[in-house]
Amino acid sequence: MLADSAIARLRDDLLAAGFTLDGVSDRLGASGLAGLERNSSVPAAAALGHEADAQADLVRLWILGHRVPAARVLAALPSASELLEAGLLRREDDALLADVELKPYGTDRLTGWICSDPTPLDGRIVRPRPDFVLGASPASTTLTQLVPSRHVGRALDLGTGCGIQSLNLDAGAIVATDVNPRALELARITLGLSGVEADLRPGSLYEPVAGERFDLIATNPPYVISPPGGERLVYRETGLGGDELMRQVVTGAPQRLADGGTLVVLGNWAITDRPWEERLAGWLRPTGCDALVLERERLDRYAYIELWLADAGLVGSDDYDRRYAEWLDYFDATGIREVGLGWLALRNSGRERPEVRIEQWPHLVHQPVGDAIAAFFDSVGDARLDHAELLASRWRRHPGVVQETLGEPGAADPQHLVLRQHYGLGRALEPGTELAAVVGACDGELPLGRLVDAVASLTGAERVTLETEVLAAVRRLVLEGFLHRA
Ligand SMILES: C[S@@+](CC[C@H](N)C(=O)[O-])C[C@H]1O[C@@H](n2cnc3c(N)ncnc32)[C@H](O)[C@@H]1O
Repeated sequence: MLADSAIARLRDDLLAAGFTLDGVSDRLGASGLAGLERNSSVPAAAALGHEADAQADLVRLWILGHRVPAARVLAALPSASELLEAGLLRREDDALLADVELKPYGTDRLTGWICSDPTPLDGRIVRPRPDFVLGASPASTTLTQLVPSRHVGRALDLGTGCGIQSLNLDAGAIVATDVNPRALELARITLGLSGVEADLRPGSLYEPVAGERFDLIATNPPYVISPPGGERLVYRETGLGGDELMRQVVTGAPQRLADGGTLVVLGNWAITDRPWEERLAGWLRPTGCDALVLERERLDRYAYIELWLADAGLVGSDDYDRRYAEWLDYFDATGIREVGLGWLALRNSGRERPEVRIEQWPHLVHQPVGDAIAAFFDSVGDARLDHAELLASRWRRHPGVVQETLGEPGAADPQHLVLRQHYGLGRALEPGTELAAVVGACDGELPLGRLVDAVASLTGAERVTLETEVLAAVRRLVLEGFLHRA
């Protein structure tokens, strides 16, 4: 265990060596960074060449996992002896090696570092230890982008792992939990180095926060659907079976969300013979919360199993065929045909008739989409105004909506008119010419009813028919973030 004072000294050493996000990015250059994105160390090592300064040696030690001469590490890192004692560094002959990965990380609000177990580089196949602590994965980054950016009072980072979500939460107070004690220890180093305060608590799901409420809960839980009872990796599977973990995260949330509080989850769900929307609605409706589910991708069971067998470092091993067969048997026995991968959000709105929207959305989105998710929940009330109020209200079009026309080259009139969001979820709508004219005129100046009058008289459209069409469309346009009440 690394004392808090040692973490503070390590931070000073890292800063002094220029081992920061900007410093390391400049040093490695675009190719070096892109190589690391691909888990290739060669371009980064090439960028460092034979230089033996402190910054280069810390990149070798903490990111590339190289052996570095002990004397050079001690010069670059005066706090190294404490790291050796805490077991983060280890000596091999006259060199030192890191047993963890430490990567510079930054947000608008902080200069930080993420401490995790090392990412296997250069195609090395490593079977992770059961209590492996994942670093900043693509899934972690996606979740950071699903979290609404507004400041909240209390936030819960459920299953904190290396602590990455807590680095991104803008909250007065953060509670970060995990069942894995190693994760809590590495998260303590991440947060301590990055100057983020969080109350770190051991325990499963909502157990460590019984009786408490949060304005925001963010979680990228161990959602992998695999045979229960087998060998498990704590970062990805719980042994609960099927997508029971996801169900428990969702159904347990209302008791832990403050009024108006939001839960954002990234996860997987089973696709069985029962319509998936109906299964998920069965979890969501009883919560009494507004809900938005976006299935981003669907994998057939073979692709899914292969993905996670590779993740466990089993490709090429004697266990591969056996594990594959067990997994397939399990999917057969439980009727899991495919797996949905996506995002799920709840808002504890206290509404009598919650808005529950469950859809497949595999299209391009404009990250970060957290504010678009918040805007969806914010807009439910406006989208449900009665006809008279909708017509009397002034609406403003989001500035990121563009009109696209599609048709045969040279044709006088376009065959398709599309309104597309160049922001958020990138939603699109194909309106008729009159509806497009009404939306185009929504600049917050005139009430909707007056715009319908004007467009009807300009185009010769029948007033009542146009009003009916516009009212139905405006509810959807408001809910989907094309229009906002001025
Ligand atoms: C996929 S990792 C996500 C880590 C981190 N939050 C991120 O975004 O990268 C899932 C984390 O949940 C933890 N975990 C596993 N089972 C859990 C449980 N029952 N309750 C709480 N956390 C759990 C794992 O130890 C792991 O750290």
